[in-house]
Amino acid sequence: MAVAKDTIWERFLSPIVRLFIDEDKLRQFHESVDWEKESDRFRQPGLIYPHYYSSQNFHGVEGGYLNGGAATSYDPITQRVLPPNEASVRQTLVDAVKGQPWRILDLGCGTGSTTLMLKQAFPQAEVVGMDLSPYMLFMADYKAKQAGLDLQWRHGKAEETGFPDASFDVVTASLLFHETPPAVSQSILREAFRLLVPGGQVLILDGSQKTLHQVSWLTEIFEEPYIKDFAAGNLDAWMGKAGFEAVQSEQFWWIHEVTRGIKPIPVENAAAQRVSTSSAFDDFGSEGIPAPAF
Ligand SMILES: C[S@@+](CC[C@H](N)C(=O)[O-])C[C@H]1O[C@@H](n2cnc3c(N)ncnc32)[C@H](O)[C@@H]1O
Repeated sequence: MAVAKDTIWERFLSPIVRLFIDEDKLRQFHESVDWEKESDRFRQPGLIYPHYYSSQNFHGVEGGYLNGGAATSYDPITQRVLPPNEASVRQTLVDAVKGQPWRILDLGCGTGSTTLMLKQAFPQAEVVGMDLSPYMLFMADYKAKQAGLDLQWRHGKAEETGFPDASFDVVTASLLFHETPPAVSQSILREAFRLLVPGGQVLILDGSQKTLHQVSWLTEIFEEPYIKDFAAGNLDAWMGKAGFEAVQSEQFWWIHEVTRGIKPIPVENAAAQRVSTSSAFDDFGSEGIPAPAF
């Protein structure tokens, strides 16, 4: 695997992970994939990687996420570093989604673990995962196919997605913001606001900034270039600044946090929606605007 020597993987995580996984099998899988050919299926021609992304090692992996080694080793590591267990941490985000969304965008989707859970929870919804790494997108697509789930994957920047205004009713990001500089996280929130319909919801799952700030060794162990800046920030305030209302954060297992915000419905639209809702009972089955997600 394309993993640098003397990284957290080799020094600390690999010996632990080796106790629980069949590393030979993982290596065989890695070697069985033609990473350049497969990642080309997702690559967006002309996409320029932002400097903060392409110039850093993440988790000590050389080249960050832009290689097959990172995509292969991401899940086995993540499965073992999210207490009490990965599925329940991700489930906190899925459970925080209100109503029955019709179009969900998962930003910085990586290998798609949360994206797949969103599709399983809301099978009627069109679910799109976007990531800057075409290698991570290959893994996400591979996992979706294995699970028999129909999702869409897009290679792109979370802060400049290229989707039209108001094209989603839920936008999510899990474990993304501790890996982007705070100014970029705030741009991503502004982009999420633009992408959401009025009444749409944004949900961010990440480390609890309060806990990370208080317990500084937590920001040292994973070789994350921006985690200290993230820990010093205030996601609730960033959400408010981006225009979201009813911002609420909930901690899970002390180190994780889900933050939810709503794009407000302009007052005149809210009144119109009240009228259209009451007339919907008289005119059941007629075409109308999609119901807000909560
Ligand atoms: C820690 S991983 C999280 C992946 C996934 N969301 C999860 O919960 O496991 C961060 C992911 O964000 C992607 N990423 C980082 N900055 C990004 C950006 N500006 N736009 C899109 N993806 C980004 C990386 O390529 C990586 O796959």
